[in-house]
Amino acid sequence: MLKLSRKSIKQGQVFACTDKSQNECFTRLLFGTNRTYAPAAMRVKQGDSLFLLNLDSDILYGVFRAISSAKMNIEPEAWGGRYPYQVRVEPISKIIPIKNAKKLLKTLSIKRYSPMNRRATIKLLEIYRPKNLGMDKWFKVLLEAQGVKLEISNETRSWGLLGEVKQVKTEPAKELPLLEATTLWDFPRQSYGSSPKGNNKYPGVTPALLIWNLVWRYTDPGDLVVDPMCGSGTTIDVCKEEGRRVIGYDIAPARPDIIQNDSRKIPLPTEHADLVFVDSPYGDNIKYSDHPDCIGKISSETVAFYDELEKVIAECHRVLKKGKVLGWLIGDQWVKKQFTPVGFELYQRLAKYFETVEIICIVRRGQASHTGLWYNRARRFNFFLRGFKYLFIMRKPDVKKAKKVEQRKVEWTNYER
Ligand SMILES: C[S@@+](CC[C@H](N)C(=O)[O-])C[C@H]1O[C@@H](n2cnc3c(N)ncnc32)[C@H](O)[C@@H]1O
Repeated sequence: MLKLSRKSIKQGQVFACTDKSQNECFTRLLFGTNRTYAPAAMRVKQGDSLFLLNLDSDILYGVFRAISSAKMNIEPEAWGGRYPYQVRVEPISKIIPIKNAKKLLKTLSIKRYSPMNRRATIKLLEIYRPKNLGMDKWFKVLLEAQGVKLEISNETRSWGLLGEVKQVKTEPAKELPLLEATTLWDFPRQSYGSSPKGNNKYPGVTPALLIWNLVWRYTDPGDLVVDPMCGSGTTIDVCKEEGRRVIGYDIAPARPDIIQNDSRKIPLPTEHADLVFVDSPYGDNIKYSDHPDCIGKISSETVAFYDELEKVIAECHRVLKKGKVLGWLIGDQWVKKQFTPVGFELYQRLAKYFETVEIICIVRRGQASHTGLWYNRARRFNFFLRGFKYLFIMRKPDVKKAKKVEQRKVEWTNYER
């Protein structure tokens, strides 16, 4: 019986609040967060066990159950709109506050806003077992109780005194990465998570976390992402996992869910997409396919290469909604003693249509040339191996906002060193 109950326990997650925001969590029976933790919070499914950590008082409140999957703006006005990624909760029984919560979570290798596996969830649930219930009965309550009114116990438990917690260590939970905070992005692996994203054997495959970062920074769940040069489908896989709608095209589709299309004419209405991502050829260095219209057959040492890419840029601009973002990944070329600033050339074309949000430096990893032999050649023959790519983040101007930018005056803060 106990075994069966334990198996039915779903994953858990710890949400956070402060003294200021706690009251609304309880009165609305709603947990919420901002974009920083949205990727984890939005993974909450109906039935998950949830806990609320007050960061100021260091108290962990539990146990709550998610009564729906996480959604955006279940109550748009909650917390003045600051925490739009939300989940509706119900208390499972009387809510018990536990002191020294940060230390407890550390002991159990549980991080807030990081989906806990079942083992960690059960460990935490065990700590919340009411003293008058045996484990079997407690798991039965956890799985069955519904419609319990919120009641917070007056007794704050001190977990350090509970013998059974002292030596407990769970497997570290599988952590979701945080959004990149600087303009230097370095992803050691092409993919992440338990399922592959794209095909890491595909020539010029994009690092999946690069797309993940764009998706979480510039779109919300349900938004439409378009990749006109989709290659092995990395964008499709990332977007599906993150709850975005997605359309991937390629001149030579590598799998059935990619639509065959020349990106110089995208078959979508004007102002339709919420994000466009392009990882285009960088010249004629890679053979993607035999298709005669592959832009990867044109040398980036010729103007024709940029002229053709400009047709793609114009289409991306047309299909994007106003104020929305295009991410374009590209690298420079050095071949046979000739350097070509492909990135700068392309950027000039992009800047004709878009305003610049950011230029990100992407560390190149897994390159065939990243071997001792090539490193030696680079030193001996006085050239450099390509160490980075550019990610141009460009916005389709929104006329109203553009006016505001013209008037702005920056007051710099000079920090003491
Ligand atoms: C660098 S790869 C994209 C890699 C992809 N993001 C991935 O992760 O697998 C560039 C892609 O552009 C495609 N391509 C080249 N010319 C094209 C065109 N005219 N229209 C559409 N796709 C094109 C190639 O077939 C190739 O798959």
